[in-house]
Amino acid sequence: MSQLHVIDHPMVQHKLSIMRKIETGSKDFRELLKEISLLMGYEITRDLPLDEIEIETPICKMTARRVSGRKLAIVPILRAGLGMVDGLLTLVPVAKVGHIGLYRNEQTHEPVEYYCKLPEDIQDRLVIVTDPMLATGGSACDALTMLKKRGCTHIKLMCLVAVPEGIAKVQEAHPDVDIFVAAVDDHLNENAYIVPGLGDAGDRIFGTK
Ligand code: PRP
Ligand code: URA
Repeated sequence: MSQLHVIDHPMVQHKLSIMRKIETGSKDFRELLKEISLLMGYEITRDLPLDEIEIETPICKMTARRVSGRKLAIVPILRAGLGMVDGLLTLVPVAKVGHIGLYRNEQTHEPVEYYCKLPEDIQDRLVIVTDPMLATGGSACDALTMLKKRGCTHIKLMCLVAVPEGIAKVQEAHPDVDIFVAAVDDHLNENAYIVPGLGDAGDRIFGTK
């Protein structure tokens, strides 16, 4: 069964509260999302394997540790997932970045695929899928299925705000994928928006409404 990790660090919660406010503009919203992504990335990468190498300090030789094993790929779900990429790249500058384009049909709320471009060796990497909003879970489930069809076996899902029904849908369809969120909100409204949520993440990042 996939694990749900709620990152309840005070700095994450503080920044998320500012993001939620209706009066927070796109510039601040983007900056806060980047900062939170870096902080959440610290937890998501906590179990990366380390190996040992011999190095020399100005004082003496020593055995030091470095991140080894699987390399990383960050895969944002367009558009809003893009807002979480820079924070993760600040933490892991050598990670590769793929893109999956999905939008929700406004009537049915079902995801529609329109783009997919992934690193050639994606199947050999630990993949972190980013999307601030886990609402019905349809977009995340489709993105995870697309990655598995391309051979990915080690995937984590990083969201900002989720609701129980979206979490349950991902856990049922993808029990091997751990989910990282900053908050689990109450419910979805009649338009499948998260309540209380923060509104439309893509519009708030890019200022499109
Ligand atoms: C939003 C959000 C997720 C999706 C979540 O994207 O960024 O991708 O909705 O909803 P779900 O869990 O019900 O699938 P949207 O479709 O609005 O596209 P956008 O990011 O381009 O605005
Ligand atoms: N997508 C968003 O951007 N916000 C929601 O609350 C739900 C889906």
